[in-house]
Amino acid sequence: MCGIVGYIGTDHAKEKVIDGLRRLEYRGYDSAGIAIPDGRKIRIVKAVGELKNLEAKASDPTFDAPVAIGHTRWATHGKPTELNAHPHGNMDNSIAIVHNGIIENYQELREWLTVEYGVKFKSETDSEVIAHLIGLYYDGDLLSAVNKAVADMRGAYAVAAMAAREPDKIVAVRKDTPLVVGHGSGFNMIASDVPALLKYTRDVYFIENNETVVLTKDSVVIFDEKGNEVERDIQAVEWKADAADKADYDHFMLKEIHEQPRVIQDTLFNRLNPDDSIKLDDISMTKEDIDNFNKIYIIACGTAYHAGLVGKMVIEKMTKIPVEIDVASEFRYRETFIDDRTLFIAISQSGETLDTLAALRDAKERGARILSVVNAVGSSIARESHDVFYTLAGPEVAVASTKAYTTQLICMYLIGLYMGSTKGTVGREYYEFILNELKELPDKVGRILLSEEKYKKLAERYHFNDHVFFIGRGLDSGVSYEGSLKLKEISYIHSFAIAAGELKHGTIALMDADSLVIALATQDRLYEKMVSNIVEIQARGAHIIGVAKEGRTEIEKTSDEVIYIPNCADEVAPVLAVIPLQIFAYYVALERGCNIDKPKNLAKSVTVE
Ligand code: AGP
Repeated sequence: MCGIVGYIGTDHAKEKVIDGLRRLEYRGYDSAGIAIPDGRKIRIVKAVGELKNLEAKASDPTFDAPVAIGHTRWATHGKPTELNAHPHGNMDNSIAIVHNGIIENYQELREWLTVEYGVKFKSETDSEVIAHLIGLYYDGDLLSAVNKAVADMRGAYAVAAMAAREPDKIVAVRKDTPLVVGHGSGFNMIASDVPALLKYTRDVYFIENNETVVLTKDSVVIFDEKGNEVERDIQAVEWKADAADKADYDHFMLKEIHEQPRVIQDTLFNRLNPDDSIKLDDISMTKEDIDNFNKIYIIACGTAYHAGLVGKMVIEKMTKIPVEIDVASEFRYRETFIDDRTLFIAISQSGETLDTLAALRDAKERGARILSVVNAVGSSIARESHDVFYTLAGPEVAVASTKAYTTQLICMYLIGLYMGSTKGTVGREYYEFILNELKELPDKVGRILLSEEKYKKLAERYHFNDHVFFIGRGLDSGVSYEGSLKLKEISYIHSFAIAAGELKHGTIALMDADSLVIALATQDRLYEKMVSNIVEIQARGAHIIGVAKEGRTEIEKTSDEVIYIPNCADEVAPVLAVIPLQIFAYYVALERGCNIDKPKNLAKSVTVE
């Protein structure tokens, strides 16, 4: 996924833009570039590979100005080459743009510009058409030219543009792809995501869909799609400036794994009143609303979907309302029974996953009440929901989601308790029991992290396995899907999760001495069944790593290794059971020499369908 950074102020924009791009490296990229006006036209410097290559190429001290736009490109249309890198200029480089997203009708626009106006394209990208369109419409007013260009475009885009004749402004526009403005005294910035801004300012404006923004060094003016000026409050980003850097960890992923005790604590305790009742920051759902719901959908992708698998069972148990769960990309093509008695819960770390956003819009159109569980403040999914429940995980930079997942689980429990206690389906005793279990989680997660060395040794012993199975029953089944995804997405091992009860219906045919099976058996009421599953698998020669609560030593007799988690109620075991699986995946990927924070082919937020 590409990264955009723009700066307009009184002094050297180049270093601030490149520094901002560095804060967006987690999004993955294969080339980068920067554009700076030199009074006559716009100079553009680009480089393939890492940002240091761009820095070297742009090191000429005369290549600087108080305004610049920059870009890190994740190739979609066209190979990662200098020509395809952004920024793109029109033919005489009087206009330059950077773009994140996909212009779906770029082919026809390219043809039209070539045939009708003799435009000579330099790159294979869809994005370049934007520069030529703006150049075509430009008559000295960049805002108007951008609006006309956008009217010709179809697709998802976040665009920042500059004109050589107006070096005192940057114009940006967004549709279905995030853009945020950083406001400072004597300067303003535009970026794809908050971490690019944190070193310079924590005061931000979130740009809404189909809005355009004009930045000068002293002003930020936002327009809606009709061209009306929009009043928007500044939001102060709570994250600490260093929150988006690795501190003294080798990888963001390991840092974020270790942040879990604190962020679980933050996500939980910031939601409790002194009397332990739950206070929900951005939720206006009333008792009438809650009593009115007769079905709940949980819709998400990837790890967020796996949090929903746990959420489904927890919320059903607490609210006695049927909960359907589906991956967003499938939900949209189903016959669904959504109406004004439906609660639609969208879970998303980035709040920008287009599959989830599109599903949310479908459900909203049909009258559902939209509650989103989101980590990125002010993101599209958050802004298009009726109610938002923020996971207070801070910036999650590693592509492999860890702390977002466990804080999403916390939100699932709190939503279940809040709705259940409001509806009367959760009594005081059970409410206090679960809440106390949740309050003990930060310490218990911290205790698990103390055994990191043990999970590292397991990874050293088993990192060569090319076929790994994760199995579990009930809540453990949802966690096994998350454990499997962690392993496959950073170590590229073919790992596979399946409900343990399903094994005998086919998959057990795959079990042999080369198989490694990670068997989750944390659910007391399903423990015996899981132990007998393990016996069946062991009979086929597979290696078994069991995961159980402390004291359940029966599993040792049938497993090669056992990972114990602190004792806890079945309901909250997923928050603990996933931690060793995260660490195991991390060290397996390390053993296999993989790029842990930026796995191949993956992006932190998938803003395309
Ligand atoms: C999980 O480790 C992956 N990064 C991916 O599956 C991710 O969870 C999925 O793309 C959903 O992202 P979101 O939570 O930002 O919507």
